[in-house]
Amino acid sequence: MRMVVFVVAVVAAVVWLAGAGGEAAVVVDPAWKFPSLRMRDAYVALQTWKQTAIFSDPGNLTGDWVGPSVCAYTGVFCAPLPDDSSSSGGGELAVAGIDLNHGDIAGYLPPELGKLTDLALLHLNSNRFCGVVPTSLRRLRRLHELDLSNNRLVGAFPSAVVLALPSLRFLDLRYNEFEGAVPSELFDKNLDAIFLNHNRLRFSLPDNFGNSPASVIVLADNDFGGCLPASLGNMSATLNELILINNGINSCVPPEIGMLREVTVFDVSFNKLAGEIPPEVKGMRKLEQLDFAHNRLTGAVPEAVCDLPRLKNFTISYNFLTGEPPSCARVVPADGGDRRNCLPNRPAQRTPQQCAAFYALPPVDCSAFQCKPFVRSSPPLPPPPPPAYPGPLPPVYPVPYASPPPPPLYR
Ligand SMILES: *[C@@H]1O[C@H](CO)[C@@H](O)[C@H](O)[C@H]1NC(C)=O
Ligand SMILES: *[C@@H]1O[C@H](CO)[C@@H](O)[C@H](O)[C@H]1NC(C)=O
Ligand SMILES: *[C@@H]1O[C@H](CO)[C@@H](O)[C@H](O)[C@H]1NC(C)=O
Repeated sequence: MRMVVFVVAVVAAVVWLAGAGGEAAVVVDPAWKFPSLRMRDAYVALQTWKQTAIFSDPGNLTGDWVGPSVCAYTGVFCAPLPDDSSSSGGGELAVAGIDLNHGDIAGYLPPELGKLTDLALLHLNSNRFCGVVPTSLRRLRRLHELDLSNNRLVGAFPSAVVLALPSLRFLDLRYNEFEGAVPSELFDKNLDAIFLNHNRLRFSLPDNFGNSPASVIVLADNDFGGCLPASLGNMSATLNELILINNGINSCVPPEIGMLREVTVFDVSFNKLAGEIPPEVKGMRKLEQLDFAHNRLTGAVPEAVCDLPRLKNFTISYNFLTGEPPSCARVVPADGGDRRNCLPNRPAQRTPQQCAAFYALPPVDCSAFQCKPFVRSSPPLPPPPPPAYPGPLPPVYPVPYASPPPPPLYR
């Protein structure tokens, strides 16, 4: 008997959900005058989200999502459409941004969000959105910033959305549960920032990694494996921060990293990097933080590295290094920044037995990793032009990266 009641309840729930998925779920009062069809679509999208896909909103952010004036909704921002040839409706008001960062909202992202075709910014960081990223988001042709970080999103990397968005520049998916591979095409896209750390992704850095014009790439804790790509050398004019902590990278350090003359933060700690630190690192003239800790590096630290003018923090602990020039005292943190190596006359080193056993092994042959060499094919591209849309909109469009990051960036 109880079983029958349960089955009936499940069937009823499925029927209700099927109804809720359709547009019929949101009633649009025929008396309302929307300034345009796009505003009516926006109303349907936002109300479908609120009425069928948001289950908890402790800050009551969607409490005022009532009635046809969607531009007055908390977290929803409107702007005039740009006059561009690809769009009719230049100058018309459209929903250009949604910012519900730190909303703690629980629910999911309904496919109807694809109706917000004029959206330039979607900031949903630090909420409790679960489920998958709806494929319909690929219709957001103007989307410039997508920040879904620190939610409970699952499924494969949302390639069908991310690779299809022509205007996307800022992609932040960190602190979710995306799993599987990341398509190499991601690094061919004209993205300025890529944050994927703290997911369940698993792939090797592809050889076209260096095609990415991004200034910030954070891929920590995803267990990638493979080579530290020599194609990094192609990022010399654009790369500012690269964080590849704990990605299982298993190769030597390519001398091409010395071509990264704009890099300020370079962190490849907790990998399996082998061989010596290439002296070419001295070409990284703007470097402020360099972290090689927890690898299998050997030999002596090249003196020129510690002499880099802006270097403040150079961490080399947990390697098998055998030499540290005196000038390194300025940049290697005194509280153990060089511990657990094979450095003579330094505290907290590995035992002589450990060092002897390691150095009794055959020396590392970097070519054995079969990493693809870097051959410069074309001169670096000029920096991309600034976005034409959304234009100056004070509270609406925070400066890129203004949204406070979710929990600590790495570790
Ligand atoms: C939520 O916000 C709406 C509109 O601002 C308000 O009418 C309502 O009382 C609020 N609810 C709670 C629980 O604060
Ligand atoms: C360098 O990057 C550009 C795109 O930014 C790409 O066209 C070119 O093929 C890349 N070259 C190599 C050798 O990776
Ligand atoms: C140096 O950087 C490491 C991480 O790369 C950090 O743990 C450490 O606290 C930093 N030390 C100083 C003195 O800034």
